[in-house]
Amino acid sequence: MSKTFRIAPSILSANFAKLGQEVTDVIASGADIIHFDVMDNHYVPNLTIGPLVCESLRPVTDAFIDVHLMVKPVDRIIPDFAKAGANMITFHPEASEHIDRSLALIRECGCKAGLVFNPGTSLHYLDHVMDKLDMILLMSVNPGFGGQKFIPETLNKIRAVRERINASGRDIWLEVDGGVKIDNIAEVARAGADVFVAGSAVFGAGKDSDAHRYDSVIAALRAELAGVA
Ligand code: DX5
Ligand code: ZN
Repeated sequence: MSKTFRIAPSILSANFAKLGQEVTDVIASGADIIHFDVMDNHYVPNLTIGPLVCESLRPVTDAFIDVHLMVKPVDRIIPDFAKAGANMITFHPEASEHIDRSLALIRECGCKAGLVFNPGTSLHYLDHVMDKLDMILLMSVNPGFGGQKFIPETLNKIRAVRERINASGRDIWLEVDGGVKIDNIAEVARAGADVFVAGSAVFGAGKDSDAHRYDSVIAALRAELAGVA
């Protein structure tokens, strides 16, 4: 049976003046998930969007919304995103005082839960919470900005997490975020990822073309994935 691969465009690189249309277009172009980057100018040196924007997008699309929290503290914003229609909420373990509690809170609010690891963050945070995870997100750039270059050492980390997921016997998604492009997505998939965030690669590709203008870039990403066993 072939593996399920999911493409998750990050709206960080979308045109915010027409965000609803961008989301509709990218899903109509074949994307699977909307990746929603939340930055607080505290945990990361940038400021983006919050629950209000998620709530505004919810009636516009049925798509799965994957909220990546780059905020500290974590807990108080979780119920707000759940109410705003998030499907998945992930957070950085070092930004939470009580990781187990934050994961439980996400699930109590009715969302899927995940942990995010920066390039330099140790995987030991996984040790006692594998049974509470629906996804593990590995950053392949330092968080805060779109359009950065993929850090190659991430490939070893992806392999290590893939082994841990397989050993757990659980269906935990392995998402990779940062610098994923047409020319490296197959390598990232071969290392063991199955959910691919692509911000600038997707939204940067459509700047000058017409409606459904993300069709060709998403098809090209999928063609690369089709070659991965
Ligand atoms: C970075 C964000 C990423 C980023 C990805 O902090 O978490 O989701 O927008 O953008 P690209 O694909 O351009 O690296
Ligand atoms: Zn992200």
